Amino acid sequence: MTVSSPCRVALLGFGAVGSAVARRLTCADPDSSPGTQLTHIFDRRADQKSASLRTDGVVWTSAIDDVLHSDADVVVEAIGGVEPAAGWIRAALLAGKSVVTANKQVIARHGASLLTLAARQGRQLRFEAAVGGAMPIVRAVGEGLAGDRITRIVAILNGTTNAVLSQMEATGCGLDAAVRDAQGRGYAETDPSADLDGHDARAKLAILCALAFGLRVDPAQIDTQSSASVTQADFVQARQRGGTIRQIARADYDHRTSTLTAWVAPIEVAASSIFARTVGAQNAALITGTHSGETGIFGAGAGGEATAVAVLGDIAAIARDKAAVVPAPVLRSNFKVLSSVLAEAV
Ligand SMILES: NC(=O)c1ccc[n+]([C@@H]2O[C@H](COP(=O)([O-])OP(=O)(O)OC[C@H]3O[C@@H](n4cnc5c(N)ncnc54)[C@H](OP(=O)(O)O)[C@@H]3O)[C@@H](O)[C@H]2O)c1
Repeated sequence: MTVSSPCRVALLGFGAVGSAVARRLTCADPDSSPGTQLTHIFDRRADQKSASLRTDGVVWTSAIDDVLHSDADVVVEAIGGVEPAAGWIRAALLAGKSVVTANKQVIARHGASLLTLAARQGRQLRFEAAVGGAMPIVRAVGEGLAGDRITRIVAILNGTTNAVLSQMEATGCGLDAAVRDAQGRGYAETDPSADLDGHDARAKLAILCALAFGLRVDPAQIDTQSSASVTQADFVQARQRGGTIRQIARADYDHRTSTLTAWVAPIEVAASSIFARTVGAQNAALITGTHSGETGIFGAGAGGEATAVAVLGDIAAIARDKAAVVPAPVLRSNFKVLSSVLAEAV
C-alpha cells in the first residue's frame, strides 16, 4: 500500500465560513479532515486576523499571488461577491489548482464557463456549499437523482429569511424585530435585503435549474417577490387557514414543451408540510422526478460551522482522487420562461 501525500489546501477569506473551515482543517481531531493540510490563508486583513488561529506552518498573506504561485492542490474560495472572487477562481484553475467555493453568485453567473475551464485544466470545481449550507442538495440533484428526469424543485433556500419568518410566526413579533433577532444570532447581515428580496435564493435556484434540468438560467430570469413586506396580519390569516408563511423557491420544467416556470416568493404553506416545520436558519427541499416521485432533503442552511461541513466534504472528494475530471455540464439555452406565476404570493 502506498502512502499518498496530503492534499494541500489554501483558503481565500477568513470570515464566517473561511474561519470555520480553517479551524476544522487545523484541529487536532484526525477525523476532522483526514489527508489534508492547510498551507495558506489569504485575507485582506491577514495581519490583523492571524492571531485568532494557532496555525503552525500556515502562511498568512494579503497577496493573492502567494496562493496562485504556491504548491497548494486546492483553493477554497470563501470571499463572497462576484468579483474579484470569480477572477481568482479562474486564476486558481489556470494555475493548476482544484477549487472549492461556497459562492452562489459566482456559480449562478459563471459556473458553466468555470466548470468547462476546470475540465480543460484536468482539475475540479466543487460548490456543494453554494446551495443549502450543510444540506447536500447539489450532490442530491446533480448526482444522486441524475438517473431520473427531474420535473420540479420546491425549496427553502435562504436561511436568513427563514429565520426571520419563523421567528415572526413563533413570537408574534414584527419583521424588524425578527431581523434584529436574526442579526443577533449571526444569521443576518447588517443589510439583509438580498436575502429578504429573494436575490440570494434565486441565484441558488438558477444553480439547481442547471443541475436538475440542464438549463442555463440567468438569475434575473427568475421572478422574485420580497418577503420584506410580510406582516403579522399575514401570519394571522395564514394560521386561520391552517398554514404559515415561508419564502419558497420553486422551479417546474416541462420537458415536452421546454418551458420553465421559476420564482421566489413568500407564500402560505400547510402547517403539516416539511416547509412549515423548517425553522430558524434551516433549509428544505422537495425534488420531484418522473421515476422516483418525491425526494425530501432538510438541514442546516447557513452559519459558518454548518457551511464548512459542505466545504470539507468537497475537499475530501478532491483529496480522495486529485486526478478525477468532472465533465462540464452541457446546458441548454433554447427554452421558454413563463412570466410571473406569483399568484400565490402573500
Ligand atoms: N455565512 C454563511 O452562512 C454562508 C452560507 C453558505 C454560503 N456562504 C457563502 O460563503 C462565502 C463567504 O461568506 P461569509 O459569510 O464567510 O462572508 P464573510 O464573513 O464576509 O467573510 C468573507 C471574508 O473574505 C474577506 N474578503 C472579502 N473581500 C476580500 C478581498 N477583496 N480580498 C481579500 N479578502 C476579502 C473578508 O474580509 P473582511 O473581514 O475585511 O470583510 C472576510 O474575511 C460567500 O460566498 C457566502 O455567500 C455563506
